[in-house]
Amino acid sequence: MTNPLALPNLRLPAFVAPMFLISGVDLVHAACANGLPASFPAANARTSDVFRQWLTELSARHDPNTAAPWGVNLNTHRLNPRLESDLELICEYRAPFVVTALGAPAAVVDAVHSYGGLILADVASIYHARKAADLGVDALILVMAGAGGHTGHLSPIAFINEVRQFWRGPIIAAGAITTGADIVSMLAAGADYAYMGTRFIACSESLAKDSYREMLIRSHADDIICTKAFTGIANNMLRPSIVNAGIDPDNIPPHERSTLNFDDPHANAKAWRDIWSAGQGVGSITKAFPLEELVTYLSREYDQALKATITKLEHYQGIPKEQTIHRKA
Ligand SMILES: Cc1cc2nc3c(=O)[nH]c(=O)nc-3n(C[C@H](O)[C@H](O)[C@H](O)COP(=O)(O)O)c2cc1C
Repeated sequence: MTNPLALPNLRLPAFVAPMFLISGVDLVHAACANGLPASFPAANARTSDVFRQWLTELSARHDPNTAAPWGVNLNTHRLNPRLESDLELICEYRAPFVVTALGAPAAVVDAVHSYGGLILADVASIYHARKAADLGVDALILVMAGAGGHTGHLSPIAFINEVRQFWRGPIIAAGAITTGADIVSMLAAGADYAYMGTRFIACSESLAKDSYREMLIRSHADDIICTKAFTGIANNMLRPSIVNAGIDPDNIPPHERSTLNFDDPHANAKAWRDIWSAGQGVGSITKAFPLEELVTYLSREYDQALKATITKLEHYQGIPKEQTIHRKA
């Protein structure tokens, strides 16, 4: 079944992923208005009052008749001191979907379902996928190898195949998905939607600095280093940004090492403010588009890739099997 979450007004089967210090009201609004569901981390709003202001503004600008749904990314780790108050605001503003991350979504499933919202659980292992599935979430976001931010380590094929053995619900694939052709390939691999972060950092509506956008355009997959040094969790980072911060990426000294500060994620945000994260798909980013233009570009790539894939598959379908099987002598 296509679009199993029945998301209205989609232009492509792809979400714009929530990103710390990058996603704000402008990025989420622009994405939804251009047919891509999008969310922002609640923690990007520095206080609960600011979070309320963002929700008020987003709800006022959002036209549910023409736009794709918006959502909030909630850190469900038990040490998050804002978990309860953020959840209350999410329920008050009836966020159409909530992306849970960093902790089990148990605490939020019933609350969000009670007003008709959807829970999309961000998971990076088979173990966590099973746990989220058992809690009754509406979709699993499989964070795979090469993803920006706190990355997964599993291959997309292995991850999707294994999750499909116990989960019949929607799968949203995340990690290095950068082009319209990548979206087609994830759907062919068994996912229902793609989830794209890094590709949207360079959009003019994001909160990124211009120097970050420029570094994304210049960088290649080889410039991405996966390290636990700055947040305590495996994170894909741009090697040149570590060098610019005066740190040797191959020998990160103990005093630069850090872990997530759940009391105030902004307090130790050096790892996000000065040392920048990106996924391995960075090499396909060659221009900083306004979001509307980027969606038009991705849609064109998607249509072309779809046609090319169908032509390729039809070609093999027409060939008698004995011609395509190469037997060992
Ligand atoms: C700069 C940056 C910040 C991120 N911050 C968050 C976050 O606060 N919460 C979250 O759930 N995921 C976060 N992510 C992960 C994204 O939601 C998504 O899983 C990832 O970007 C997908 O991989 P891609 O960047 O290769 O497209 C972040 C990713 C990036 C690049």
